[in-house]
Amino acid sequence: MAHQLLKGKRGIISGALDENSIAWKVALKCFEEGATFTLTNAPIAMRMGEIKKLAEKTNATIIPCDATNVEEINKLFTDSQEVLGGKIDFVLHSIGMSVNIRKNIPYTELNYDFFQKGIDVSALSFHKMLASAYKLDALNEHASVVALSYIAAQRAYPFYTDMADIKAMLESIARTFGYHYGKQKKVRVNTISQSPTKTTAGSGIKGFSDFYNFADLQSPLGNASADDCAAFCVAMFSDLTRMVTMQNLYHDGGYSSTGVSTEQLEKFV
Ligand SMILES: NC(=O)c1ccc[n+]([C@@H]2O[C@H](COP(=O)([O-])OP(=O)(O)OC[C@H]3O[C@@H](n4cnc5c(N)ncnc54)[C@H](O)[C@@H]3O)[C@@H](O)[C@H]2O)c1
Repeated sequence: MAHQLLKGKRGIISGALDENSIAWKVALKCFEEGATFTLTNAPIAMRMGEIKKLAEKTNATIIPCDATNVEEINKLFTDSQEVLGGKIDFVLHSIGMSVNIRKNIPYTELNYDFFQKGIDVSALSFHKMLASAYKLDALNEHASVVALSYIAAQRAYPFYTDMADIKAMLESIARTFGYHYGKQKKVRVNTISQSPTKTTAGSGIKGFSDFYNFADLQSPLGNASADDCAAFCVAMFSDLTRMVTMQNLYHDGGYSSTGVSTEQLEKFV
């Protein structure tokens, strides 16, 4: 049920590749809640993806942008303000890619060119987006910027390889930029640490479906779905959370606070 929580708000949503993408669900929910926004993705993904269908459903304009390219990011913010008719109120960073994961390279044998590519795409892109918005003064006061993270930033998850270190950097950028942007313009910056979710990026991780089931059994509420994540993003974009900033917020059905669940233990009885 929609509450028009984002009525009158203008946003930028990155990372909608197909209907399984978390960003796809966020776009649908933001539209239901009355927001107007632009959609963006890497030009190469756009040809493969189905983003046009999403744009039609949500009356959104698509602005291609490789999130590693500062000029393209500047254009994204400038064009978005023009298309939407004013400064931006919310931004979703939903971008992640590790070549080491794609190629099943173990953590102890990481390829450093791939590692650097992963850092650039999945973490530095967040700094670049924030820095571009900051320099162009593209965001309204109390605007909300959210990036998606994973608990491997805090705990060891062997199969998550270099993305664990990259997510730790992403969360640190949220804290540090959140400080500067909060001081300058009361803009808030947070990360949401999401449950394993069946998407293109998620399913690319070795052993993902076993791990998905493990996390589901471990979490008192079960895994949080992409739809639930979208609802949480709406809450974070809305004025109801206007004093929340510089946080890494677990959205995981209680997984991060559970030592062991009875369902897991029963497997050893
Ligand atoms: N799926 C999960 O289990 C899970 C769990 C926690 C966090 N996350 C995070 O959620 C975010 C979204 O991932 P998803 O699971 O929806 O998968 P997804 O594959 O649908 O989305 C990843 C997106 O990143 C985009 N991207 C890659 N390189 C880019 C570039 N250079 N410029 C611009 N965009 C680029 C892709 O085109 C794609 O749309 C990622 O940051 C991911 O790490 C996912």
